[in-house]
Amino acid sequence: TLVPTADLVAAARAAGTGVLAFNVITIEYAQAISAAAEIAGRPAILQISQNAARYHSGLSAIAAATAEVAWRSSATLSLHLDHVDDISLLEQAPDSGFSSVMVDASALAYAANVATTRKATEWAHDRQLWVEAELGYVGGKPDAPASAHTAGVRTDPSEAARYVAETGVDALAVAVGSSHAMADRTASLDLDLVAAIREAVPVPLVLHGSSGVPLEQIRAAVGHGMVKINVGTALNVAFTDAVRAALPESRDPRRYLGAGRDAVTRAVERLLTLLPATP
Ligand code: G3H
Ligand code: ZN
Repeated sequence: TLVPTADLVAAARAAGTGVLAFNVITIEYAQAISAAAEIAGRPAILQISQNAARYHSGLSAIAAATAEVAWRSSATLSLHLDHVDDISLLEQAPDSGFSSVMVDASALAYAANVATTRKATEWAHDRQLWVEAELGYVGGKPDAPASAHTAGVRTDPSEAARYVAETGVDALAVAVGSSHAMADRTASLDLDLVAAIREAVPVPLVLHGSSGVPLEQIRAAVGHGMVKINVGTALNVAFTDAVRAALPESRDPRRYLGAGRDAVTRAVERLLTLLPATP
């Protein structure tokens, strides 16, 4: 079933655990995440990024398909709009089944990030959307915008506290050593920084680029206060490897896309059982 992202994050935080958020690129991903959540008996966040919406020439079709998969699932799922810097896309979120959005102004300098994020957050809150934003710069995204920051600029705890107060966001994505689009788990998180930011800010923290983070460090980061754990690339690696292996056998897309979907299900299932369950 489809529930608000705010509920999943609040429940995980109250239980001292985390909730996994997985990027959906095609309907096969939504089906795989739903199936894995059903098997594992865990909730999950389905997130569609601005880049994925662009791939589909708009948000509505992929959002409708993903929301329908979630409604029909026996797992508890929510729908999140990820990495939005295009306000016209943000404006489509309430009518497309989303209960939450990430407003991504992280490429901007501090004052511009605050101004952009505060305005978008006020608009989103008027429409009951839960808002995540980023301070510091995780970086590593393909087609990343020209930025006031170098990729990997870490989040400063006291600046983070000010940022949350000034913008009114519901969750904060932080730069603590992860980077987007890593195909190997070779990142190294600064867990002391995670703990210091958690002490300083009143809202739940979000880890981006989790595909590059060793599994035991993800678990440790949750122990230090990280709540929403975003995974994209690891699913793409599983999907593409399985498609590649199945391709020589078949010309029927259902064979190789199905193999990709099964591989994503297995990858998601493993990740979902990594963290302590929400009671
Ligand atoms: O917002 C999405 C995540 O940060 C995914 O990052 O593709 O590196 O796992 P990743
Ligand atoms: Zn991200």
